[in-house]
Amino acid sequence: MLFKSVRRLHRLEDRTQHLSMKFLTINGAFSLMLCATIVPDVLVHGSPQSSYLVLDQEQPSKKCGYSKWHSLLQVDCSNRGLDKIPQKLNSNIQAMYMASNRLRDLPSDSFAPYKSLAYLYLDDNFIGEIDESMEYPEYLQVLDLSKNGLHDVPSSVFDLPSLKKIYLSKNKLKDGTFDINVTSPIELIDLAENSLTKIPSVGLQPSLLYLNVSYNKISHVTTEDLAQFCSLQTLDLTNNPLAFDPTNCECYHFASWISERKIKLMPGVPCNNDTFEACGKLGFSNETTTSFERCLDVIKVRAAQLKARSTWITVVSCISAFLVCLVVGLYCVHKRNKKRSKKLKTQQKLTASNANTELLNGNLPETPP
Ligand SMILES: *[C@@H]1O[C@H](CO)[C@@H](O)[C@H](O)[C@H]1NC(C)=O
Ligand SMILES: *[C@@H]1O[C@H](CO)[C@@H](O)[C@H](O)[C@H]1NC(C)=O
Repeated sequence: MLFKSVRRLHRLEDRTQHLSMKFLTINGAFSLMLCATIVPDVLVHGSPQSSYLVLDQEQPSKKCGYSKWHSLLQVDCSNRGLDKIPQKLNSNIQAMYMASNRLRDLPSDSFAPYKSLAYLYLDDNFIGEIDESMEYPEYLQVLDLSKNGLHDVPSSVFDLPSLKKIYLSKNKLKDGTFDINVTSPIELIDLAENSLTKIPSVGLQPSLLYLNVSYNKISHVTTEDLAQFCSLQTLDLTNNPLAFDPTNCECYHFASWISERKIKLMPGVPCNNDTFEACGKLGFSNETTTSFERCLDVIKVRAAQLKARSTWITVVSCISAFLVCLVVGLYCVHKRNKKRSKKLKTQQKLTASNANTELLNGNLPETPP
């Protein structure tokens, strides 16, 4: 409590720092007055904590704070006891921190005023359900929903055109949530501490780099599961009841895939080398290689599209640069011509008037000596 009021005084002082000495004395008097009003507050409400709460409800400190980070307008509403998304913030915000509040359910229009939101942090709340018809900000890139009570996540979020990172750790998610085809350009999926029993089957994910499924109930991983993530770099399988069938080569294949693809695996390959020799001659299953190749194909197609687009952009910008030069050139020529004709006109006028005076002079009778 005391800290808070001291901080508030400091803020007051900051504001008045640039003013004259006269104001400083007024500020001092004001601080004294503020102390005088706060002290009885503590006395009345007994424990400092209760007065802290009272202060919080009355003071603007409950308001969300704005800040800029690399030209990104962000708002910090975390830890403010909010039970819904504030609707009257600056509508241009790009990042919203709502962690550690009391959010329970999110109405579908919760983010309607914020069209530019790209980073949304809703971690450490009590969200148990997300509306099926949730209107997510269109350009959302990062969504943090970790540490909530979610049993399911409506699939629409995985179709957002810019979504790159989704944090869903510490929820109650089951396999069913991920029987979908993710179309977002997803790079990171954090599913640690949920109730999955298998690697999520979310379709070919050529951009997925990081998958965290630690602290789940996964007992089985196959190369078919992993082949659809052909760019995967990190796979965390820590604390899962993994059990490979010792009568076939599944563990060998799994281990080979991990080492061939140079995937960083945690907590390390779970099988011993004994079976390796016998399995060495067997290749990966057809399903594995097919999935992997299809995933690589998607990357190739995307790269080609990107190249085509950049070629177009180059062509279009060259043409527009040429047009701009042309217009500027024409304008310069026009201006010069105008200037020249103006000069010519004044010269003509001048010579005409000169001629006139000469004529006039000529006509004048000669003055007698
Ligand atoms: C995966 O998630 C767990 C639990 O949140 C965390 O401790 C671990 O560091 C994560 N793994 C990686 C590779 O980031
Ligand atoms: C796997 O692929 C090979 C070569 O393409 C083919 O000969 C074989 O029949 C396939 N096996 C299965 C089970 O599809």
